[in-house]
Amino acid sequence: PLFRGLSRAYSTAPLDIGFVFDIDGVLIRGGKSLPHALPALQLLERLKVPYILLTNGGGKSELTRVRDLSARIGTQLHPAQIVQSHTPCKALVNDPQFERVLVIGGRGNEAREVALQYGFKEALTPIDAVRANGSIYPFHSYTEEQLEDIAMHPSESHLYGGSAKPISAILVFSDPRDFGTATQISMDLLNSEEGYFGTKRGNAQLVGNATPSIPIIFSNNDFLWANEYPVLRFGQGAFRITMEALYREMNKAELQSTILGKPFKVSYDYAHHVLIDWSRRLGSEIQPETQVLPQLNVAPVQSPFKKVYMVGDNPESDILGANNYGWESLLLRTGVFRDEDWDSIVAKPTGGVFDHVEEAVRFAL
Ligand code: G3P
Ligand code: MG
Repeated sequence: PLFRGLSRAYSTAPLDIGFVFDIDGVLIRGGKSLPHALPALQLLERLKVPYILLTNGGGKSELTRVRDLSARIGTQLHPAQIVQSHTPCKALVNDPQFERVLVIGGRGNEAREVALQYGFKEALTPIDAVRANGSIYPFHSYTEEQLEDIAMHPSESHLYGGSAKPISAILVFSDPRDFGTATQISMDLLNSEEGYFGTKRGNAQLVGNATPSIPIIFSNNDFLWANEYPVLRFGQGAFRITMEALYREMNKAELQSTILGKPFKVSYDYAHHVLIDWSRRLGSEIQPETQVLPQLNVAPVQSPFKKVYMVGDNPESDILGANNYGWESLLLRTGVFRDEDWDSIVAKPTGGVFDHVEEAVRFAL
């Protein structure tokens, strides 16, 4: 009855509100759709209220990710409706600093494929370095078959010898699938001679130097996340902490890096542009390829929204970021947050705590 009442009430005038949903712990948990995800999204679709997804997850292309989510949830999502942790990296593809990048995360060749699809000219992965010289990390977990099938042939990767070319930056797209290999190889490059494998910069540039030899971008900072396991799992933030600890040990300095994703403004600006773009194409004839890609750290000049609701499960990412950005925030009990954490959470939701996503959407409406 509430659904029908809302439909009638808003059927004549468009709403000047929008929704931004976190994915893990809000719509999905442990790979499965949460029971209230579909009715919540269907309600907004029926009311023509624009919504996008803003996740700190990644490792797949936006198209692959929405196809997968659409099948799981049972609705039809569009690739222009999602911002993954690494989506803002699209803004870097024409920057010469990011011409030949090492990408970390994803299964198999997924991270490389995402980077190439974004438009990065050359994208290498840790497995390429293992194939070129296995002694770089003798404890790696890749099989001979994987090295053959997934890794670039050394004659194409150009990591050693006369044809060696440097890596110009490291992009951590999602949690490393082989943590040990990614750690060793990334640290090697951060203290290399200008990004060349098998080199180490001299002590004069190493000790006390917070600036690594090549830049590193972590696409999210989540220390913990919720899957089907009874206890929260380490996320990409744990990889950042590991890298920082090793860098401190080696360099006696704090590693300089860039961190994207929630709760940082850079990702909320990006998502805000995407939400505006999506609201403009709702009900219009605009074709998917006309999506205007935002630049990094550029806030929208104008927003059609009086209120944007961020629905999340993680106070440290979703809620903190939304509150700092001036959006309304709705916290759910279906993921990271537990009621007993209330007194210690870093950010309290402006709109309250809800049992599930549909309850939060109905409250906001
Ligand atoms: O950091 C893990 C990632 O899966 C969290 O995703 O959708 O909750 O931002 P999300
Ligand atoms: Mg979440």
